[in-house]
Amino acid sequence: MKFTNKIFKGDSFISLKDYSRDDILNVMQGISSYDDQNLKRFIPNKKKLIANLFYEPSTRTSSSFYAAATYLGHEVLSINNVQYSSIAKGESLEDTIRTLASYVHCIILRHPEEGAAYSATTVSNVPIINAGDGIGEHPTQTLLDLYTIYKEFKRLDRLTVTLMGDLKYGRTIHSLVQALDLFDVHINLIGPHDLKLPFKYYKEEYVENTVLTDWIAMATDVLYITRVQKERGAIGNYAFTEEDAKNLSATCIVMHPLPRNEELGDWFDSDPRAVYFEQMSNGLAVRKYLLGEILG
Ligand code: CP
Repeated sequence: MKFTNKIFKGDSFISLKDYSRDDILNVMQGISSYDDQNLKRFIPNKKKLIANLFYEPSTRTSSSFYAAATYLGHEVLSINNVQYSSIAKGESLEDTIRTLASYVHCIILRHPEEGAAYSATTVSNVPIINAGDGIGEHPTQTLLDLYTIYKEFKRLDRLTVTLMGDLKYGRTIHSLVQALDLFDVHINLIGPHDLKLPFKYYKEEYVENTVLTDWIAMATDVLYITRVQKERGAIGNYAFTEEDAKNLSATCIVMHPLPRNEELGDWFDSDPRAVYFEQMSNGLAVRKYLLGEILG
């Protein structure tokens, strides 16, 4: 399904493959109208109830959706410790979604299985927002990634983006490459041989390497680093080094969806090219925008 106008009143938000270049450019404009410290002006007339249903750990996605909903004047029913819900008694995802959908106006779902968010839409009469489905996608992260790039460069075209890390299991990468493909972006893929981008996301024009060479670093506008997804069985060893930092241009930005491990040391945090905390902070505007548009 392709949306030709602004996102998505009453719709679910599951995968970047559902959106066009124009949709994304509209979204960038839309998010900026929510990227405002004057939170009160967004309080709607009608309070809604949103379920935050997280089967996997989360700090940023869960809490930024919670904060966004609260700032918009809504209330949140949080199920983050699923061991205290009937899921611990063996209840299926479908029955859990059917139950919550009868109580709330929208369900934000993080689940360990790829495709779970889409499955949830088939039994839900309220919108589902995919907050990460296993090794599948993390589309709301991609909106905040794109918005961070858009804020820095004022465009999403004519950029060289280098994706470095666990490209196989990293769902943020899977959503991001699909979105970047809609724009005039040159993509480099850097990572261990065993953690390559899955074939279904791969394009022949991508440049692949196992290390961040000096020539790739020098040409990069956006370096996007991800951690090894150890919880999914990934094994890999890589890190952004001081030598890499020297090879990046002064105008390059370094991003990371967080949480981070040894691949990105805190020695780089004070570098003006490090934007990963701003990126994380942009998640609030993105989630306010999504809830604002979806709940109407
Ligand atoms: N980037 C991200 O999804 O972080 P959390 O796992 O903390 O939500």
